[in-house]
Amino acid sequence: MKEFKQLSEKYLIGNYARFDVAFERGEGVYLYDTEGKKYLDMLSGIAVNSLGHSHPKLVNAITEQVKKLIHTSNLFHIPPQIEVAKMLVENSCLDKAFFCNSGAEANETAIKLVRKYFYDRGEAHKYEIITFTGGFHGRTIGSLTATAQPKYHEGFKPLLQGIKYAPFNDIKALKEAITPNTGAIMFEFIQGEGGVNPIDPQFLQTIQEIAKEKNLLIVADEVQTGIGRTGKLFAYQHYNICPDIITLAKGLGGGVPVGAVLTKEEIAKSFTPGTHGSTFGGNYLSMVASKVVLQEVSKSEFLSNVEENGRFLFNKLKELGLSPRGKGLMVGVSLPEDKKAQEVVKKALEKGLIIGTAGGNTVRFLPPLIITKEEIEKGVSIFKEIL
Ligand SMILES: Cc1ncc(COP(=O)(O)O)c(C=O)c1O
Repeated sequence: MKEFKQLSEKYLIGNYARFDVAFERGEGVYLYDTEGKKYLDMLSGIAVNSLGHSHPKLVNAITEQVKKLIHTSNLFHIPPQIEVAKMLVENSCLDKAFFCNSGAEANETAIKLVRKYFYDRGEAHKYEIITFTGGFHGRTIGSLTATAQPKYHEGFKPLLQGIKYAPFNDIKALKEAITPNTGAIMFEFIQGEGGVNPIDPQFLQTIQEIAKEKNLLIVADEVQTGIGRTGKLFAYQHYNICPDIITLAKGLGGGVPVGAVLTKEEIAKSFTPGTHGSTFGGNYLSMVASKVVLQEVSKSEFLSNVEENGRFLFNKLKELGLSPRGKGLMVGVSLPEDKKAQEVVKKALEKGLIIGTAGGNTVRFLPPLIITKEEIEKGVSIFKEIL
């Protein structure tokens, strides 16, 4: 570890504060580090390893694919890309898909799509997008600007023009933020990085009413909440809503980098040849991985398990006297003032439990979606010991 640390410091840009652990292999919900120590992973690479580690179907599909083809570019048809698009479309309320490589890139795509849609309608003045405090949409300049958290902006100004902030779950402030230039409202159903803060159903209702009245687009960032994380394939399915644009990434590839944007036919028309693209987007490798993930996660018994086990985790945390927030296997708890989330996460790691932090002194649980009740019980008992 000492050597890893030295080499890391010598050769890598220091933009991450890393724990002094390196993993060598994983199986199911368990990870093993380079010293052979076993860990229960209740973070899944920050909501990425939806099928856990080394899932046989995922490993097999990727292995078989790389023997044949990894990448050809979007100059050509890519059959597994068509299949994944079909699966996403047929399992959602939207009509068309575009593939890229990350959540930030999916959100950049969404921002461009909103602008182009209104431009094509002769309403180029409706370029403004409203996002909410505590939200997180990525680190590229556009998605960073959409992320209404000043701590991430420091040193990176000037930011992108045309993004406006409003306080999350504040109906009055949202109404006041709308101008003739507003084109879209962009949000997470449960703010992940911001502290696992669910949207207030009344607030969501207001977003829908305003969008309908003013002809605005609703952009749902489901990068973290999507692909089964909340117990439904998409978090929007918990509510009576069909967003105009949905962005996806994280869990979709089960660990292989992938991002996606889903939208309605009418809006998709604005992306004509040459208007947008991504070299790696939707290549063979990421698409065969996404296909396996979708085949598994979209099964109704898989999703009901996520819902049930999520409730189990929720109740176990309540038994500790905590007030969990979230849905499915996206759960956060605020800790009392005297317990720092960062410290708790560090101690958990020492004891072989991987959990994460989020805004507002929150500890985040984002286990692989295949986690069992016994494994949850094990994780919560380690967490209890630390508290
Ligand atoms: C809701 C949400 N949107 C976007 C992103 C950015 O995704 P990526 O890191 O893949 O660019 C994240 C990452 O944490 C996220 O949680």
